Amino acid sequence: MPKTPIAVIGAGAIGRTHIDRIARSDNLQLAAIADPTEAGRALAQSLNVPWFADYRAMLDNAKPRGAVVATPNSTHISMALDCLERGVAALVEKPVADTVSEAQLLVDAQARTGVPVLVGHHRRHNPINRRARDILQSGQLGRVVTANVMATFLKPDAYFDVAWRCEKGGGPILINLIHEIDMLRFLLGEIESIQAIGSNAVRGFAVEDTAAAVLRFANGALGTLVLSDTATSPWIWDFCSGEQDQYPRQNVQSHFIAGTHGSLSLPDLSTWTYKGARSWHAEITLEKTFVHKADPYTWQLLHFGALIEGKEEPLCSAQDGLRTLQATLAVSEAAATGQTVAVGKS
Ligand SMILES: NC(=O)c1ccc[n+]([C@@H]2O[C@H](COP(=O)([O-])OP(=O)(O)OC[C@H]3O[C@@H](n4cnc5c(N)ncnc54)[C@H](O)[C@@H]3O)[C@@H](O)[C@H]2O)c1
Repeated sequence: MPKTPIAVIGAGAIGRTHIDRIARSDNLQLAAIADPTEAGRALAQSLNVPWFADYRAMLDNAKPRGAVVATPNSTHISMALDCLERGVAALVEKPVADTVSEAQLLVDAQARTGVPVLVGHHRRHNPINRRARDILQSGQLGRVVTANVMATFLKPDAYFDVAWRCEKGGGPILINLIHEIDMLRFLLGEIESIQAIGSNAVRGFAVEDTAAAVLRFANGALGTLVLSDTATSPWIWDFCSGEQDQYPRQNVQSHFIAGTHGSLSLPDLSTWTYKGARSWHAEITLEKTFVHKADPYTWQLLHFGALIEGKEEPLCSAQDGLRTLQATLAVSEAAATGQTVAVGKS
């Protein structure tokens, strides 16, 4: 089978992750890199692939079947639309857009053209989460009643030398919490409404350093999310799932989901159930599922290749990207206004 040619637009931090995975893939071939910087040109040269400063020229000349859009957020939609217009499938990094109305343009264009779109919420491709979803959907935990998520970690002072990271919108709600929101949507379904509180008490920047949110899911479950990028703590998925080699792995849990008939912690995939009488006085049984460690970015690209070949449906569609963005923006709005924010359905 010939390899599927995939281009990467934007050879920055995450673009290089994609480039590395494509270059090592058995199914995909790195068709070109588009990035106007000297670093982008040098990387393309070192890999012996065509380089373009202009991504449109790349799409027209290199003619990839798919393109990864790994550029700053504000450029995602226009680039993805340019891909779709040319019949090129797009893997669009998260967040899919800056605003819900922009995201809707992509949802509409995808529906009109039928060209595949995948949004880069990579955690969906981690086998731990796929197994967790199977466990939840099997009904063995009964009806889910609560979900608690910890996302507390420490960004070093140097991180804030970049001005936009100190301004509204540059903080952990939009940068980090969006991953938690998407993972919860993947596992538990749609979020209906959100309450939240933000705080900038430690760093004193315009942007929050800490936040807490309460979620109501459409299935009736309630959730809490605790977030801080100024906390010395190991309790975040990125540290304990082992999916990011850049962070030392910690043997702790970050997600706790409780149902009427059992509960589940992640990433260790422990379930707790009563085998006999169901009562807080009875003995409770702990069982574990072990899954192979796998790189979600590799699986995401494999899935992207399968979408292009028409063999699979997107695990994170443009509409999913929109809904996750909408719920994340709702956390910001709830924290800013003190109001409960309904998460609209579009
Ligand atoms: N899924 C994940 O795990 C993950 C992780 C990090 C970043 N991201 C997302 O990926 C995107 C990029 O983030 P990053 O951290 O890699 O940023 P970055 O600043 O490291 O890289 C962005 C790259 O895009 C290039 N670029 C800018 N304008 C361009 C254009 N018009 N044409 C071609 N290239 C252009 C820049 O030169 C730069 O190399 C963001 O949307 C971010 O939210 C996702």
